[in-house]
Amino acid sequence: MKKAIKHIGVLTSGGDAPGMNAAIRAVVRSALDRKLKVTGIERGYWGLLTGDFHDMDSRSVGNIISRGGTILRTVRCPEFRERKNRDQAYRNILDKGLDALVAIGGNGTSAAAYTIHRELKLPVAVVPASIDNDVYGTDETVGFDTAVNTAVSAIDKIRDTASSHERIFVAEVMGRENGFIAQEVGLCCGAEAVLVPEVKFDLKQICRSLVLGHKRGKVSSIIVMAEGAGDSRKLAAQITKEMGLEVRVSVLGYIQRGGSPTARSRFLAARLGNLAVRALCEGHIAILAAIQKGGFVHAPLSLAVNKTKHIDYQAYKLTYQLAL
Ligand code: F6P
Repeated sequence: MKKAIKHIGVLTSGGDAPGMNAAIRAVVRSALDRKLKVTGIERGYWGLLTGDFHDMDSRSVGNIISRGGTILRTVRCPEFRERKNRDQAYRNILDKGLDALVAIGGNGTSAAAYTIHRELKLPVAVVPASIDNDVYGTDETVGFDTAVNTAVSAIDKIRDTASSHERIFVAEVMGRENGFIAQEVGLCCGAEAVLVPEVKFDLKQICRSLVLGHKRGKVSSIIVMAEGAGDSRKLAAQITKEMGLEVRVSVLGYIQRGGSPTARSRFLAARLGNLAVRALCEGHIAILAAIQKGGFVHAPLSLAVNKTKHIDYQAYKLTYQLAL
């Protein structure tokens, strides 16, 4: 018979994402609602290694729903890859009496949670939270919508100045390994081109279409580029060389990771945080709390860890189609 869950630990790990606080709140209060004990783990897996734990009650998560970042702090923790360090973490988990773990984060967070589950047989649930939206098994991650909206409003402002000066801009958005943010932002900003790591681009072709757009009366052009698609400054220099026109670069950077979460990010955080706790209490042992086709489901964590999510190529192509 499976052991009843009486005490859960919660942590945030990896790159922070707006809505992580709303997810912590949902996890803590859903657990308290079920009369569970809740322990907060500071700085993600580093806190597990060092035993940096504290009790959480409903007041520990008061007034955080609208705040960006994470009150539990976060680090990237390469030390967790070493078995001897993980053994220390396992001793800390057992000493503290944790029956289950909710990990809030992206792909690295999911992989580490799955490892804990395999090695310690601890029930784990992941709430996918990452601005990158690259977690397989969920259509959307907590924080993605906020990051996209932040980038869209920044690029709308860039469009104003680009149009006044009749300039070409390269706007670099986050996404070291994939183009989820770039693809969505490009479409929503009416970009003339969008560059993502997943698709090879032809510089000459892009320049030709910028020239054609100009001939059709366009007064500005914006190329939205994911950071993993190449070096934005080099690209700007190449376009200048090819077209003889000045190109400005704007790297949006970390502003995309901060700020108050949008209603959508908070909504997802609430639903997925609650689902994670519910699934653990119902006896599920290694799950990803997910949204799939508008419904809230728990997916096997093994899939999230072993499969790769792909960008929406139709949306990617549509940006070019609509940039007439
Ligand atoms: O959170 C994901 C992400 O924002 C990537 O898009 C980005 O490349 C990376 O994190 C940067 O992370 P850091 O500099 O905090 O390690």
